[in-house]
Amino acid sequence: MESQPILSRYQDLVTSPADFLNACSRPLPTTGWYNPCKANPGSSFPTDLNRKSMAWTPSGFKIDEALTESILTDFLTGKIVFQEESAMTAVHLMDIRPGQRILDLCAAPGNKTAQISTRLGETGMVVANDISKARLGVLHGTIDRLGLTNVATTAYDARHFPIPQVLFDHVIADVPCTCEGTSRKHPRILSRNNPDERKRLIRIQTEILLRAIECTRPGGTIVYSTCTYAPEENEGVIQSVLDSKFGVPSFEILPVKIPGLTTSPGLTGWNEQSFDASMVRCARIWPHQNDTGGFFLALLRRTGKPDESLTEASTSRLTPLSPGEWPWKLHAFNEEDLLPWRNLAFSKKYNRFVGVNCVPPTELRVQSIGMTGLNLKSDHPKFSTALAIKIGHLAQSAWAEIRPESLFDFWERKRTSTIDFKVGPEDVKTVVVRCGGVSLGLGSLQFPEKEIDSRFPKVWGGLQISERLQQIREL
Ligand SMILES: C[S@@+](CC[C@H](N)C(=O)[O-])C[C@H]1O[C@@H](n2cnc3c(N)ncnc32)[C@H](O)[C@@H]1O
Repeated sequence: MESQPILSRYQDLVTSPADFLNACSRPLPTTGWYNPCKANPGSSFPTDLNRKSMAWTPSGFKIDEALTESILTDFLTGKIVFQEESAMTAVHLMDIRPGQRILDLCAAPGNKTAQISTRLGETGMVVANDISKARLGVLHGTIDRLGLTNVATTAYDARHFPIPQVLFDHVIADVPCTCEGTSRKHPRILSRNNPDERKRLIRIQTEILLRAIECTRPGGTIVYSTCTYAPEENEGVIQSVLDSKFGVPSFEILPVKIPGLTTSPGLTGWNEQSFDASMVRCARIWPHQNDTGGFFLALLRRTGKPDESLTEASTSRLTPLSPGEWPWKLHAFNEEDLLPWRNLAFSKKYNRFVGVNCVPPTELRVQSIGMTGLNLKSDHPKFSTALAIKIGHLAQSAWAEIRPESLFDFWERKRTSTIDFKVGPEDVKTVVVRCGGVSLGLGSLQFPEKEIDSRFPKVWGGLQISERLQQIREL
């Protein structure tokens, strides 16, 4: 423990301090999850690899090997999300049902928002809030890469998030914290901590948790999570809200159970302070238990009577897309294929592609809604790359199919040969490019060679594609 003094304060909380410290000094395994909205059962592509599954969740994977072409392809087409394993547990606790309305109060960079959104499928709505507009930018990239149409983003200080008339079914408060549990990935995080910073964070965490409960409907649940071991930022914060004299709505602590994952119960005391007995229902994940980062989880349920008069609002279906609108005509979609979405004018450059039930409360000032849809700034309105990846497999015309061997060339924005193609009715050359039934993005058909000039962006999902391809080639 001497080498990491900040961690020595926890030695009495772990059964084997040596195992704890050893785990903290090892690099983290690479982990993540499969996007359930991209299961694509009919597809023969891409081939799967040596990814190990996780005992507690069938959608989780661990990989030992370095970046490969198959992993890169899955990432670029939104089939996988990289996320630290312990951080994946917070959304796992939520009993998410189709059509629900869920608030993520501290959402950026957006991995938990993505988990919630994909578990809702093409239904319901997630409001993803974060105080940092810069960090929300990363979240917007994730929304486009994964093709999430049921997320609206806002940029409030979560402590003052407007309490809507119709409350949310679930709220997650994955609050800013001292991040001690991320030290395997960011070793320097431990030297940055100091008592004043912890005190400042505890005040913010307490106010955010209070607002999370206020935004949840009676009967709905709240997940409070941190990536720190510190009891002051975990049980201590929940205790402060329990003890608060300021009219906190009543709530109870529910048991956190994750079969297949080893966790430790929450604490009923720390130093001089005692906590409520029900705090044992919370869970702490130590790095040596499952070879992960460190994490804390609490699942709360707001108690009290629901206001039945308000639960119906804002879930009415809005007008879905019409395939007659250009360029839907170009790609010749079937009308029923487009029913889940609408095309929303939002800015001068891009329309938004939005789930019909994604209707954020009117009280909110929304930064963005749904994913990037039509590009209005080109010669003629055309698909964004995000939209091509999202619904390109449904296009009946204006598509081209390439060989798996041509993937690298496509990602590198080069010219590639086609196996088959179908031009649009107006001879527009921009087509959706596909491989084995999976949409990859956009390309421009070239004649007489019948080849495709790739229009894939240089940067996608935060990755500089050429750099990553170089890495793969050097392996
Ligand atoms: C632990 S991170 C959230 C990670 C995110 N839930 C995910 O899974 O990708 C905490 C986030 O809280 C945001 N934050 C800090 N103070 C905040 C506040 N007062 N209101 C809202 N967000 C805040 C930070 O910008 C940061 O993005």
